[in-house]
Amino acid sequence: MYKRVRVKQALASGPETALEVRGWARTVRCGKEVAFIALNDGSCFGSLQVVAGPSLANFDEICRLGTGSAIAVRGRVVPSPAAGQAVELAAEEVRVIGPSDDSYPLQKKRHTMEYLRTIAHLRPRTNTFGAVFRVRSSLAQAIHRFFSEHGFLYVHTPIITGNDCEGAGELFRVTTLPLDKPPLVGGRVDYSADFFGQATGLTVSGQLEGELYALAFSDIYTFGPTFRAENSNTSRHAAEFWMIEPEMAFADLQDDARLAEEFFRYLCRHVLDECHDDLAFFNDHIDKGLIERVRQVADSSFAMMEYTEAIEQLKKAPISFSFPVEWGLDLQSEHERYLTEQVVKGPVFIVNYPKEIKAFYMRRNNDNRTVAAMDLLVPKVGEIIGGSQREERLDLLEARMAEAGIDPTGLWWYLDSRRWGSCPHAGFGLGFERLLMYLTGMENIRDVIPFPRTPRHAEF
Ligand code: 4AD
Ligand code: MG
Repeated sequence: MYKRVRVKQALASGPETALEVRGWARTVRCGKEVAFIALNDGSCFGSLQVVAGPSLANFDEICRLGTGSAIAVRGRVVPSPAAGQAVELAAEEVRVIGPSDDSYPLQKKRHTMEYLRTIAHLRPRTNTFGAVFRVRSSLAQAIHRFFSEHGFLYVHTPIITGNDCEGAGELFRVTTLPLDKPPLVGGRVDYSADFFGQATGLTVSGQLEGELYALAFSDIYTFGPTFRAENSNTSRHAAEFWMIEPEMAFADLQDDARLAEEFFRYLCRHVLDECHDDLAFFNDHIDKGLIERVRQVADSSFAMMEYTEAIEQLKKAPISFSFPVEWGLDLQSEHERYLTEQVVKGPVFIVNYPKEIKAFYMRRNNDNRTVAAMDLLVPKVGEIIGGSQREERLDLLEARMAEAGIDPTGLWWYLDSRRWGSCPHAGFGLGFERLLMYLTGMENIRDVIPFPRTPRHAEF
């Protein structure tokens, strides 16, 4: 009897175990006397070396196997004489399930990330993307575990929604209007009734709905896809990304920063402890020094700097920036990098931004000029978390909306939450792909999401 296992378990098996393993051939090397197949099934970074001899009835067929072929192998685990692996599988039967040939786009050579993006349907079969997507899955589960351990309720906020939470005009419209004959008002398409009579789009953030649930369940989080119709071709922006958004009732900005720091360090610790082989690969081949950096962040507390202080630091920087530095202007990624890489040399919370450059829902500070906002900036990636204490005072919220030109009509339900049982509350959003970039050293957001939705990649 052969026990069916994954490659990961086969590599950890003792000698003389009879196993069946199924997967895809990464390489096939064949001589007269023996064939070696590196078999990978995605369960771990390493491949299992399968050794097949000419006594197998289909030895010729095995020798003709192309890279990428799907096979099932039965055999016995034996100690391996080869360096770098403790055991190999001495094949007693090799069944070819799905052959492959020379036209397979992933031949045994180094491919560029750009090329691999053009074959997003096959790239999960490479070492690099195998590692990325194992870490992605493991982190997603760690995120749910963190919040579950801390008593947070998991809320599914809507994907189709009428509100543009960030007010940045980046809502993708969802429409049921006939595209060949859209209704016109004054000669222009009237989108105001596009979803069976309501104006709707794809969510840019689950926060506003999340706040309603925090005001009932105290501590909640959402973790879902988020959409922004921005035509930006940067390595850090995608039109579809995943965001984790916790929200806590009876909490202020300091509580918010405390949660963000504990959460972030928990996730650093998680990859060090649970994704060791994949991280070692990133450390050796993608970003030397990654493991040391992640370890330091997991073990140290984060700096905090007022926005005003950040502007002063940037003004006295010995380098010149392409974008202007002025109190009242937003920080650009070159500024974020300077602050994290040259000034603080680690993660830093920038807090209390001018109200004009932040969203309408942030709580006004007593100086009347700033709001209780916090962004967590990290070296290499820049802004990774954006959060704030929310404006819980109805009159001030309404005044701020009027000032920012936001129509309160569609947000009546949000305003209701300030009418009955309002309380101080705070939360933040962590961009899941930016977290992955930070923890793997991958430099482009297109390479940490299975199917990137960016202006040039949305076909499949
Ligand atoms: O700073 P943002 O826009 O904040 C919000 O959406 C708040 N409603 C969150 C909250 O307080 N609940 O986005 C939060 C984070 C950013 O710091 C960044 O990591 C990520 O989401 N992000 C993006 N990631 C990839 N592509 C984009 N286009 C992104 N826009 C934001
Ligand atoms: Mg932000």
